[in-house]
Amino acid sequence: MRRTSALLLINIGQLLTLRSAAVGPRRGASLSELGIIRDAAVLCLGGKIVSVGSTKDALRDPWLKKNRKQVTEIDCGGRVVLPGFVDSHTHPVFVHPRLVDFEKRISGASYEEIAAAGGGIRSSIDGVRKASKPALTRKVCAVLADLALHGTTTVEAKSGYGLSLESELKSLEAIRAAAREFAGTVVPTFLGAHAVPPEYRGRSQEYVDLVCNEMMPAVAKRKLAQFVDVFCDRGAFRADETARIFAAAEERGLAVRAHLGQLSETRIGPLLRYRPASLDHMDHVNDADLPALAQSDTVATFVPGANYFLGLVRYPDARRFIASGVAVALATDYNPGSSPTLSMPMAMSLACTQMKMSPAEAIAAATINGAWALRLAESKGSVEAGKNADLAVFDVSDYREIPYWFGANRCVLAIMNGVPSGPLSS
Ligand code: NIG
Ligand code: FE
Repeated sequence: MRRTSALLLINIGQLLTLRSAAVGPRRGASLSELGIIRDAAVLCLGGKIVSVGSTKDALRDPWLKKNRKQVTEIDCGGRVVLPGFVDSHTHPVFVHPRLVDFEKRISGASYEEIAAAGGGIRSSIDGVRKASKPALTRKVCAVLADLALHGTTTVEAKSGYGLSLESELKSLEAIRAAAREFAGTVVPTFLGAHAVPPEYRGRSQEYVDLVCNEMMPAVAKRKLAQFVDVFCDRGAFRADETARIFAAAEERGLAVRAHLGQLSETRIGPLLRYRPASLDHMDHVNDADLPALAQSDTVATFVPGANYFLGLVRYPDARRFIASGVAVALATDYNPGSSPTLSMPMAMSLACTQMKMSPAEAIAAATINGAWALRLAESKGSVEAGKNADLAVFDVSDYREIPYWFGANRCVLAIMNGVPSGPLSS
């Protein structure tokens, strides 16, 4: 049931507002500014945040005194409240987990070796092509519900395991149908250029033609996606193919983003002219590209769950990006091949322990900078009057505990566009 009436959260031990007077994504030292209010309260009306302050002030408010009976009150009991996570990179439309790939990697095979031997992304195609739209919709609905349980209230969701006109449209339609059932916010992305499907083997140019000339117009006409994504890397799509796909997206009025530098280095300069909202993975990036990236509004999104799950020793060098002034975000990259996790706190924990980001930086990267990576920072990513009422309540008394208790889910409530969901609301 959707309840978007008045909602008052009181007795918040630490409220991480992430408010800021500056415009633009967080960079450098500003990544650590969480705007913490102690003993805080938040009032939400009609799915929006209307006031943020101390519990004492909130309870003295004349409007609240008069209307208290109509307001649903949530006593946070000294817990931590922060903006709901913005998971700006997920692949939720698949059918089966890839357990054979998992075991092969444990026995020593690499992600690329497994893909070359018939595993990898291509082995997820069959399941999606054979699945009905309602079956895919149910899968996506379950993923969204699970994400919310972990404190995520805004989700970017990619297609990319259908890789034919029909099954890419089916995947995006499943995302749209699931989004309608979800109280949170879903941002759909068309990832037809995830891999060259088997029937186009050795004919990648023709597949890129199909993506640009048939799939993209159909996606745009049905308004099924806000972004176009490309897996630009060794064994996937080259930089010139990526630029072609970006140019086609630009023509259709679709914004772009890319998977970049996961397996090998690609120079970023030529792609920046398409103003990608984000470039994701970023394990292999040339130092010479960092100043241009820092000058741009493109967010570098790290997905350390993929490094963890692929058993890699190396993680992206977050400190180098932050020191250069690049805006960085964190996401789960939820997918069956490289990162089957729905937990933003897990991604944050990995960012802290493996990439030496501080807990405060990880929180900013998972909230306000995730919102910038989806071009939604006007309405998402911070707790400020006028923004959407997207909040997460964690059963901890210090925000640093969120990445500290790794592997455990301490989220007890997610509020999505004013709708509370989770154990604390019942
Ligand atoms: O972000 N790198 C490309 N895409 C996914 C993996 C997809 C898969 O293996 O199924 C990623 O890691
Ligand atoms: Fe991905």
